[in-house]
Amino acid sequence: MVAVALLAAGKGTRMKSSLPKVLHPLGGRSLIERVLDSVSKLPLDRRLIVVGFAADQVKTSLAKEPDLEFVEQTEQLGTGHAVQQLLPALQGYEGDLLVLNGDVPLLRPETLEKLVRTHREAQNEVTLLTAYLPDPTGYGRVFCDANNGVKEIVEHRDCTEAQRQNPRINAGVYCFRWSSLAQVLPTLSNDNDQKEYYLTDVVRFMQPVQAVDVEDYQEILGVNDRLQLATAYDILQMRIKDNWMRAGVTLIDPSSITIDSEVVLEPDVIIEPQTHLRGRSLIRSGCRIGPGSLIEDSELGEGVTVSFSVISDSTVAAGSRVGPYAHLRGQAKVGAGCRIGNFVELKKAQLGDRTNVAHLSYLGDAQLGERVNVGAGTITANYDGYEKHQTVIGDRTKTGSNCVLVAPLTVGSDVTIAAGSTITEDVPDETLAIARARQTNKTGWQLKSAQSSQS
Ligand code: UD1
Ligand code: CA
Repeated sequence: MVAVALLAAGKGTRMKSSLPKVLHPLGGRSLIERVLDSVSKLPLDRRLIVVGFAADQVKTSLAKEPDLEFVEQTEQLGTGHAVQQLLPALQGYEGDLLVLNGDVPLLRPETLEKLVRTHREAQNEVTLLTAYLPDPTGYGRVFCDANNGVKEIVEHRDCTEAQRQNPRINAGVYCFRWSSLAQVLPTLSNDNDQKEYYLTDVVRFMQPVQAVDVEDYQEILGVNDRLQLATAYDILQMRIKDNWMRAGVTLIDPSSITIDSEVVLEPDVIIEPQTHLRGRSLIRSGCRIGPGSLIEDSELGEGVTVSFSVISDSTVAAGSRVGPYAHLRGQAKVGAGCRIGNFVELKKAQLGDRTNVAHLSYLGDAQLGERVNVGAGTITANYDGYEKHQTVIGDRTKTGSNCVLVAPLTVGSDVTIAAGSTITEDVPDETLAIARARQTNKTGWQLKSAQSSQS
């Protein structure tokens, strides 16, 4: 049996933030969600989270996760004190307990599987992850015998100058035999520089304690301040981009591109420079995205091209072209083979296949049929100051340049709307609608006005 406990009660003072540290986002997921992800492949019997600072905020952010048990640590007196709070909840529990700091977001699931396996096979009381860091400043140092048996862990600030030379650090990731840990926890003291109860002190009273080195030290980097948050982001991005390139995606100038971890890309997608893919986006084979584009929580069908544009919460079907300088948002739904051109904004607009909106338009709360041609500067006036209204347009209809369609409005199929019209009434099928003042030409007008100004 394995249970996991995440320590997430600290404020994260070094972040200098009103948001609790574990809720800071890292590539679309909060730190604590990332730690939960890293244990998700283990067969866990229970998942406990120690919360304290802004406990309600942390709980709310995890409301969608099933079967989490929250344990409150009302005063944050150290990591050992945090684990002491688990004693009532885990009374009589007979299995192993995996303990992870809530601020180590880059752990690979395989690393944790190996930790648990080693713990079992060696029948340790404690097994913990260690790493050799180029700069171990700030971390607890782990002192071992020749067989990786841990003798003690000393926090950076409690180390002597000689002890600080030890580059082997404590990752803050442990597997404990709970029944033994439960005996030792009440005996912890806070006799150290921070006057805190350190979880790391338990190793002095438990036997055997084994250190397991991680192969890639980047996995165990903790996030204590914004600089480390940025470093973690870089590492995460490198992993994500390497994976997609290996899976058949071309990234042109990868260092200028960012991709959230929940994005899915198919082979033969090309991502151009300065492009950012966020949230739960799906980009199908043959798409060419960028340069300079942002795609967020959106789905693009095969062979879509997007340049210098922003698409959020929207879908674009196969073969459509978007941009430059288009903005699709709020459940815009573009059919196949469409063209959405320069300075076009679509909001909650649904477009049938092969419909074009090529220049300077705003379509909001609109439903357009197939093969519609929306003339340059056509606007749906969807808002009367109080409510939003629908515009519906049938198949093959054409609007001239600079039309205003005042919603609620239904325009039929095969309609032509004359340029410069303000349409306020429904238009039946196969009709030409003209709604503008007739032009009057006053010949010789300049001459007459010149004469009258002289007199
Ligand atoms: C801790 C370890 C250190 C290790 C490092 C790895 C101890 C004493 N030190 O130090 O050996 O090298 O992690 O990153 O354990 N927390 C609580 N309640 C508290 C205090 C902390 O829940 O009272 C939580 C924090 O929210 C955080 C985690 O425990 O997620 C670690 O706390 P932090 O203060 O960051 O510990 P470090 O100083 O980094
Ligand atoms: Ca830390």
